[in-house]
Amino acid sequence: MPRSPNHDEPRSHKGRGSRGVGVTRRAVLSGAAMLGVGAGIDHVLSGSQGAGGSRVGSAETLAGAVPFYGIHQAGIATSPQGYLYFATFDVLGRSARALADLLQRWSVAAAAMTAGREYAPTSDRPVAAPADTGEALDLAPAQLTITFGFGPSLFGTGPRGRFGLAARKPDLLEVLPAFPGEQLDPLRSNGDLCVQACANDPQVAFRAIHVLSRIAAQDAILRWTQLGFRKPSTGDANASTPRNLLGFKDGTNNVRGDDQAAMSRFVWVQRGDRPDWMTGGTYLVTRRIQIVFPGWDVLSIQEQERAIGRYKVSGSPLGSRREHDPVDLRATTSGGAPVIPIDAHVRVAAPATNGGRRILRRGYSYSGGMTTGPLDRGGHQIDGGLFFIACVRDPRRQFIPLMQRVATRDALAAFTLHIGSGLFACPPGARAGGFVGEGLFA
Ligand code: HEM
Repeated sequence: MPRSPNHDEPRSHKGRGSRGVGVTRRAVLSGAAMLGVGAGIDHVLSGSQGAGGSRVGSAETLAGAVPFYGIHQAGIATSPQGYLYFATFDVLGRSARALADLLQRWSVAAAAMTAGREYAPTSDRPVAAPADTGEALDLAPAQLTITFGFGPSLFGTGPRGRFGLAARKPDLLEVLPAFPGEQLDPLRSNGDLCVQACANDPQVAFRAIHVLSRIAAQDAILRWTQLGFRKPSTGDANASTPRNLLGFKDGTNNVRGDDQAAMSRFVWVQRGDRPDWMTGGTYLVTRRIQIVFPGWDVLSIQEQERAIGRYKVSGSPLGSRREHDPVDLRATTSGGAPVIPIDAHVRVAAPATNGGRRILRRGYSYSGGMTTGPLDRGGHQIDGGLFFIACVRDPRRQFIPLMQRVATRDALAAFTLHIGSGLFACPPGARAGGFVGEGLFA
């Protein structure tokens, strides 16, 4: 298992009126993790065997805890877990102090929840409303990660900005420009703050957002949320690649979270990139991309493969035999036509056609059941797609030009509709005792 980039030990919550519940529960949980006990874990494990029985994760790994404190926030380099609950908030208050206080309370709660502990147990005060909503009481940590980010609107406009923080706004943090063909819903876009909760148990991810939104109470309100699912991964290079809702393997040519050189070059904001408080952080892009299933589902397999540029079953590039063979964009047929069509997604998005620039994709499939949105033209259609998440060091040089190409030259554009969008600056991780985003207020 690749070592998590977050090595610091979480802060102990003993002696805070918890009556040692955290310690007891952790012992119980590690036992549970070994056995894979608990409804959520059983569910995850039943779906964790890849094609051909390849091992994608042990009960212990999938149920275990990912440290919250560290140099980088967890949930970025972390191998993607099976479930996503993504939430954005708009801040109600006007003072920087209240904002910092909210981030501090969120960090304390996130550290407890990711370690599999209760947040501020109140079981000794049965007349008070519990701070921890309780739905994860018997569940393992399930590799819960909670990642926080700041949207452009948090900084406001004008000389001082909303919280007097205008001067500290990263230049790169701007609302994404409009791209051809998109039909953005403002209620699925942007926001002052984002919280990405990922876990191998959907109830654990739900409880994280539930507790954090309760803590936000008078300080911030939910703006939009997004649930997602995918095959969980432990980062094992031999594990089979998850498939997206088009039925294609998705993630073959991705930056790996344990590839330190690529992460430093393409994902983590480096010392010298401005502003200083973002060093060790990243910019997180979200796009809710609806798939036009009525159009896609009637294509022949060959047409689908030509749109992606890879074979559907094996995932190998067209003209190659194995999934991880290099994508040969120069190969031609005997008639002189490119083997990988000019508008194939993997050609349009390839680093070779994008100045060598790469991005870390960490998206999740989603389903909203049935469409009631832009695609609903009187008929009932299945609603689903990709909640695309990408993390980059520089959105202006990496994501925006790439997205422009995908929107205008890509065969997939005819079968997808972008209906939500966001860009968030995710600060570096917190040290034990500190909080995520502390550097913004320094
Ligand atoms: C519903 C929308 C999308 C679907 C279904 C989709 C699907 C896929 C698939 C099947 C692959 C090939 C396997 C792989 O290497 O991971 C791929 C590769 C890739 N996609 Fe997408 N994608 C979508 C949207 C996007 C968007 C919006 C971007 C960026 C703006 C993007 C960027 C990339 C990149 C960079 C690669 C790797 C290309 C390479 O180096 O070979 N994708 N995508």
